[in-house]
Amino acid sequence: MEIEEVASLIPLAKRGAIEERIYLTSGEFAQELGTSQQTANRRLQMLEERGFIERTGSPRRQQVILTEKGAAKMKDLFFTLYNIFSKPENEITIRGRLITGMGEGKYYISQQGYRNQFIQKLGFSLYPGTFNLKLDDNNLARFNAAIEKLTFIPIEGFKTEDRSFGAVKAYKAKIGNKIDGAIIIPYRTHHDENIVEIVAPTYLRKALAVNEGDAVDVTIYG
Ligand SMILES: Cc1cc2nc3c(=O)[nH]c(=O)nc-3n(C[C@H](O)[C@H](O)[C@H](O)COP(=O)(O)O)c2cc1C
Repeated sequence: MEIEEVASLIPLAKRGAIEERIYLTSGEFAQELGTSQQTANRRLQMLEERGFIERTGSPRRQQVILTEKGAAKMKDLFFTLYNIFSKPENEITIRGRLITGMGEGKYYISQQGYRNQFIQKLGFSLYPGTFNLKLDDNNLARFNAAIEKLTFIPIEGFKTEDRSFGAVKAYKAKIGNKIDGAIIIPYRTHHDENIVEIVAPTYLRKALAVNEGDAVDVTIYG
C-alpha cells in the first residue's frame, strides 16, 4: 500500500501541490498515473482519507494540496534516494584531538525529534553521546574554508512541550578512517568554533580505541 501512496503523491508534487493548491481533473490524474479514471479517483480518495492531501472545490473543478504529512512523505522519498545515489563531490580530512565535553550533547541526541531525522536522512541510529575534537589553527582554517563548499544534510528544528530545538547542519563523515558517522553544526551552540562535534552509531572512544588528547582524523564528505 505504501508504494501506492508514494506513486500517487509524486505527480501531484511534481505539479507544485506541495506549495499551493493545484487544479486537478481525475482524467489528467489518471493519465499521469497510467490508470483508469475510476482508479485515479479512488487513489485521490485514499490520499485524502489517510491525511496526505486536502481537496477543495467541486468534483468537476477540484483543487488539491499536499498536507504536511504528504510533504513529509515526499521528503522521505527524496532522502532515501539521496542516500542511494549521492556520490560526494568533495571531501576534506582534518585532524583534531579528542576532548571531553560537558555531557550536554547527550541530552540533545536523546531527543526523538533529532533521532528520527538521523535515521531517516543519514541512515543510522545515534549513539547517545557526542565525540568532540579540538582543532588547531591550521586544521580550523582548512575546515572553515572547505565546509562552505560541502553539501550538508539539513536536520530541522522542532518543538517539544518544554522547549524548542534548533536546526542542525549534518555532514557525512568517516571517523578515524574507520567508522561512518557525521559531523554536526548546530545553528546555536555552546561550543567554541575550534570544536568539531561528531555523532555516530557506535561509541567511538571504544570503536577507535582512543583516549583524551589522542589525535583523530575525520574525512568530511559533501
Ligand atoms: C543533534 C544536536 C543538536 C543540538 N542543537 C542545539 C541547539 O539547538 N542549541 C544549543 O544551544 N545547543 C545544541 N546542541 C548542543 C551543542 O552543540 C553541544 O553539544 C553542547 O553545547 C555541548 O555538549 P558537550 O559538552 O557534551 O560536548 C546540539 C547538539 C546536538 C548533538
